[in-house]
Parts: sequence; C-alpha cells; structure tokens
Amino acid sequence: MKSVLDFQKFKEQGHRISMVTCYDSTSAKIVSASRIDCILVGDSLAMTMHGHDTTLAATPELMALHVEAVRRGAPNKFIVGDMPFLAHRGSLDRTMEAVRVIMKAGAQAVKIEGVDGAEDVISYVVQSGVPVMGHLGLTPQSVHQFGGFKVQATESNAAEILLAQAKKLEACGVFAMVFECVPHEVATYVTSKLHVPTIGIGAGNGCSGQVLVMQDLLGLNADFQPKFVRKYLDGFTQFKEAFDRFDSDVKSGEFPSGKESY
Ligand code: KIV
Repeated sequence: MKSVLDFQKFKEQGHRISMVTCYDSTSAKIVSASRIDCILVGDSLAMTMHGHDTTLAATPELMALHVEAVRRGAPNKFIVGDMPFLAHRGSLDRTMEAVRVIMKAGAQAVKIEGVDGAEDVISYVVQSGVPVMGHLGLTPQSVHQFGGFKVQATESNAAEILLAQAKKLEACGVFAMVFECVPHEVATYVTSKLHVPTIGIGAGNGCSGQVLVMQDLLGLNADFQPKFVRKYLDGFTQFKEAFDRFDSDVKSGEFPSGKESY
C-alpha cells in the first residue's frame, strides 16, 4: 500500500486490507518486511507500551514520538497515527497543532475517534490536506462513558445508528473507518452501504479489512484473550522461555562461550 488512494482501490478490487498496530522501530522493521498493508500507531500504546489501564494517557507529543520511531523502522509502509484523547475536542488551533506534530513525525494520515459533534473539525482536517481515518463502535477514548470496554451497537436499531454515523464520517471526507467491537451483522450491513472501506476489530469478517493490536496478535499478553483476538504466536511463553534459557546459561557459566568472547 503506497498511498491513501490504495484504500479505495483495494475495496473496489475486493483486496482485504490488513493493518496492525506498531509502536517502535524494531517491530516496525519486522512489519515492514511482512505483507501487512499498513500500520496504525494507535493510542493503545498508552496501554501496551506504557502500562496504563486505558488509552487516555496518550498525548500528541507521545504519539509523535512513537510515530517517528515506527517511521524510522518502516520507511515504506503507510502509517496512520492516532489523534489521542480530546486532541480534537478543544479549540481548532489545538486540534491542528496535534495533527501537525503527528503528521510531521511521519504519519500519512490521522485516525479520529467518534463523529457526533466533531463533524466540522473532521471536515476541516480533511480540507487541510490531511487524510482522516474514522473510528466508530467501541471508541476506547469514551471508555468511561461506555462503563468499560464493551461490545457496542447491540440495540435493536444499532445498524441504523451506526450507518447514520458512518455516513456522517463519509460526508466529512474520511478515506476509511475502523469499526471496533460491533456485531458482525451490523458491521457487514453498514460496510455494504458505504463507499469507503471499513476496517474491523471485533466486528466480524464482513468489513473491508481487519486490524489487530500487535501485542494481541503475537500473544504477548498472557492474561488478555477476548473473543475477537486470534493469537498467531504464543509470544508470552516463547519470550519467557528465551529469558529463562538465558538465565540458566548465565548461571551455569555456559554463556558467553569462547566464541562469544573477545
Ligand atoms: O489504538 C488502537 O490500537 C486502535 C485499534 C484498536 C483500532 O485504535
């Protein structure tokens, strides 16, 4: 994926878009060597990299720091940077300053959570020449309003509500949108009514693509196993075993060997 134009092209060609979160340069080099289409430097980094319980601790400066690191590791991948908590809900100046630092750090687009009450600001960012990815359903920055990380859009009229929000985002000019933790039928129905591609996480396989948090995909967090995560590696066990082997070799004096010494 070379540019924002490929999102639309991929949807039209029926090529499902793969996106993974990434927050550091070493991991970005590995993603860069893979077939993954694009990278999201998500504000989930507040949780995965900094140990917070929610994403609320992320700031534009923190996002920019991680975007820069990922860009160094993945110079040729399409990178989306998250607009963090409330960054687009203050003054327009503050919004544009946040957009500026994230884009100058190396992102090619920003992702903005929600739409209601933010239509003007999202349109303004798009009209400023910055591609925007939307994010609906479980928008983690609203975790306290939702009363926890819960599946959204379960009301009987959920599909119509999500469709109305998604149409608003399309009218603002977003090039794609994430649907997080919404029922499969709802996400599939709304995707079929949209022009732009949708990227699902916990939203079934009727979206135009899928995104997973890298730590979840690699199984690095042993305690976290929501239904929608497929672990492609038991990273926690494999990392721990490597650390234990190193510990044993140090303690037995087997490491370093002659060959590993100067
Ligand atoms: O911050 C993030 O990682 C995200 C994904 C879960 C879509 O927004």
